[in-house]
Amino acid sequence: MSVGLVLLLTISVAYAAGFKGIMKAWRSPTNAAKAMVSGSEPYDAATVRKLLQAYIADSDDIKSHLSTSAESEDLKRRFTAFQSDAKAALGQLDSAAKFKAAYAPVMDNCSSCHDKYRD
Ligand code: HEC
Repeated sequence: MSVGLVLLLTISVAYAAGFKGIMKAWRSPTNAAKAMVSGSEPYDAATVRKLLQAYIADSDDIKSHLSTSAESEDLKRRFTAFQSDAKAALGQLDSAAKFKAAYAPVMDNCSSCHDKYRD
């Protein structure tokens, strides 16, 4: 299903820009966290904590704007799973190795949702 249609069905037109804005805001700090995971940037627990907290808070914001259509309910479930993986990762920040292991499942939520709902 095309994303345009999904957004039309699930997210009010007024909120579509807000949704995209949140996703866009995640891009750069997510790339920074990936660089820490790959070792090309030094690991910084405070920076990744902020990012994980933003994923969790922003997902609450998105969920509060979704309707009760079947697609919306699926999206809500996906954002809730994403939040729970992000919460688990918050408890694994004391070393780069632990963060790396906990961040992989967090990232899987991005790709699996995009595979289904993003053009
Ligand atoms: C439960 C679903 C879901 C999850 C989880 C999710 N996204 Fe998205 N994302 C979407 C959808 C749907 C779009 C398409 C929005 C559009 O184009 O209208 C999107 C679009 C984007 C975009 C493009 C925004 C633009 O228009 O320029 C970026 C960047 C992005 N997501 C980053 C992420 C990152 C990084 C994560 C994980 C940390 C993530 N997303 C997790 C559903 C999700």
